[in-house]
Amino acid sequence: MTAIVPIQQGTLSLAAMHLRGGGLVAMPTETVYGLACNAANPDAVVRLYEAKGRPRFNPLIAHVASMEIAEQEAVFSDQAREIAAKFWPGPLTMVLPVAPTGTVSDIARAGLDTIALRMPAHPGALAMLRTFGKPLVAPSANRSGHVSPTTAQHVKADLDGKVDLILDGGPCERGIESTIVSFIGERPVLLRAGALETSILNEALGGTLVVRGEDDGISAPGQLKSHYAPNAHLRLNADAPEPGEGWLGFGSSPIPGTNLSEAGDLREAAKNLFAALRTLDAGFDRIAVAHIPNEGLGEAINDRLARAAHRD
Ligand code: TXA
Ligand code: MG
Repeated sequence: MTAIVPIQQGTLSLAAMHLRGGGLVAMPTETVYGLACNAANPDAVVRLYEAKGRPRFNPLIAHVASMEIAEQEAVFSDQAREIAAKFWPGPLTMVLPVAPTGTVSDIARAGLDTIALRMPAHPGALAMLRTFGKPLVAPSANRSGHVSPTTAQHVKADLDGKVDLILDGGPCERGIESTIVSFIGERPVLLRAGALETSILNEALGGTLVVRGEDDGISAPGQLKSHYAPNAHLRLNADAPEPGEGWLGFGSSPIPGTNLSEAGDLREAAKNLFAALRTLDAGFDRIAVAHIPNEGLGEAINDRLARAAHRD
């Protein structure tokens, strides 16, 4: 049994003790809950991959609380520095060349000479990072391939007994993972649509962001076609549920079921998405999902729904 404790000064010290001993601690961020361990400890990182059942070729995001630490871990171009200044702390992950002074273990980077970095905009996550004092790698705190967790209870449902402590900071504000952008090539490339709208990022990049399709092989290594998947089968862009199907609606509608946002607000829908999938999954084998407009945050929501619906 893993304890869930509120995130506060005393529990942060306890968590830091676990982390220093090579343990695993789940913590809230503004996007989803992360499963954190000492990024510099290869044994802890191996334990983390095993707890999640995550394939080793899928590298982790290192979380930092300051630009000073970020610059120790990665090489920032002027443009990358400008983007960090604009969007950090926040739901943006930047893939950059590893710095010679980097401390993140090879295995956490899956052997790549690049590193994914993020400064989360969550007071609890930042307090955890400051208390620990060094980068923490933290993938989403779910079983690999399953729906991402947006509450401490979701983490416990997936990883009870496999992690040392769960820090509870309430439901996540954004509800969908960070946007990932690579600064490795000549132009910045979008690797994962996420909680920072692509159009806002692209505008800050002066319109230079490269956004590619699924099949050209340019995406984050962990962007598997089947991911974020409940046990139930999903039917997308549905007008109404068929007999026996659960209903996941969007916008005002007379159809009874779960609604992502009756007001048709994409931000609210993103926040509710993963919890709604978990709730419906507990009651139905099949779920019909309403059409979600593919603009703004709808892009990231539809990306998650398509992966949740995909069967190999
Ligand atoms: O919002 C988030 O990003 C959450 C919270 C906890 O911070 N974390 C998260 O981590 O979503 P995870 O492990 O579920 O997704 C990380 C993604 C994976 O698709 C991985 O392949 C990609 O980041 N990634 C990590 N390092 C990379 C690298 N060097 N190059 C390209 N992609 C990388
Ligand atoms: Mg994940």
